[in-house]
Amino acid sequence: MTTQILGVSEASLRLAKQLISEGEVVAFHTETVYGLGADARSDKAVRHIFELKGRPQNNPLIAHVHKDFDISSLVDNIPAYAKKLAKAFLPGPLTMVYPSTGKVSPLVSCGLQTLAVRVPSSPTAQAFLRAVNVPIAAPSANVSKHISPVTARHVYEDFQWRIPLILDGGRCEGGIESTVLDCTGETPQILRAGLVTQEMIASVAGSCGVYVPQKGEQPKSPGMAYKHYAPQCRTAFFAPEELEKARALYLEEEQKGGTPCFFCEEALARLLPGCRVLNLGRSGEEMANRLYELLHRGEEEATLLICICPKERGGVYEGVLNRLTRAFGRE
Ligand code: TXA
Ligand code: MG
Repeated sequence: MTTQILGVSEASLRLAKQLISEGEVVAFHTETVYGLGADARSDKAVRHIFELKGRPQNNPLIAHVHKDFDISSLVDNIPAYAKKLAKAFLPGPLTMVYPSTGKVSPLVSCGLQTLAVRVPSSPTAQAFLRAVNVPIAAPSANVSKHISPVTARHVYEDFQWRIPLILDGGRCEGGIESTVLDCTGETPQILRAGLVTQEMIASVAGSCGVYVPQKGEQPKSPGMAYKHYAPQCRTAFFAPEELEKARALYLEEEQKGGTPCFFCEEALARLLPGCRVLNLGRSGEEMANRLYELLHRGEEEATLLICICPKERGGVYEGVLNRLTRAFGRE
């Protein structure tokens, strides 16, 4: 099948609506990364997403809805703190996990009794979700374990000929996936770090925990158990104080005739004159924004991508660090 890449228009939304009603998938822009969406109520449509991505059957999907959708039909026992958080951060890059009412296909949550719900702020996503007016199950629109897509071209490269439509909204500003927050307990708990940070959530909800899976335990957010976001070239990962070791590896690769490239923040890039560097920038937000774009570029241009981990912690750095350690195979 040909893959059409279209901006939002009356015609493209009509087509998207028709495809979704036929159980097909539609890729769409969000403010974080592109999603690969299908009707969350349909077993067949949801199974199709898993098949296309080659996604493990125990990694649940997020249900996406527009901002006026009544989520009380999908989930219940919404705690008071979650209502405050929704008011403060939605629409936006925050996914909230609640007890499910069982109205969507059980394949969405892979048999869990909970459902992750997200209200994206991207105008393209909102227009799409409003046009279809059903909950849309959507993982990131990349082949499982590959780098998440932040442009329509990234989606096209992973899925050309296999999906009918990409709703193009330009480059995703946020750049890393939404924060996944467990809202089934007394206090909220972060399952996946993202642009809505622990500090931001605690300032509204009073407190916010971060889930750390214990050894041998079934992880609460199964997606966090896999190596992810992996570029298709060789990689290496160093702490900031290992700069000299990293430089030696760079030179060795160059002498072998390869094209090594550093992957690091601007402060470190300045210490590497004459070297190829993919510069992640100066703040957590800037690094999140550039991360996947530069990983895609790195895998195209380098034989060896050498990441030097940023020094800072907290805020958006936590989300960036989580993606870096997993892309570079440290988990
Ligand atoms: O920004 C995003 O969240 C993007 C865009 C497309 O919306 N979507 C995305 O989906 O990143 P995906 O499938 O790549 O990641 C979903 C994450 C996984 O880590 C999964 O384990 C977790 O959400 N998740 C989904 N349902 C869950 C549930 N019921 N309980 C706990 N974790 C859940
Ligand atoms: Mg993903």
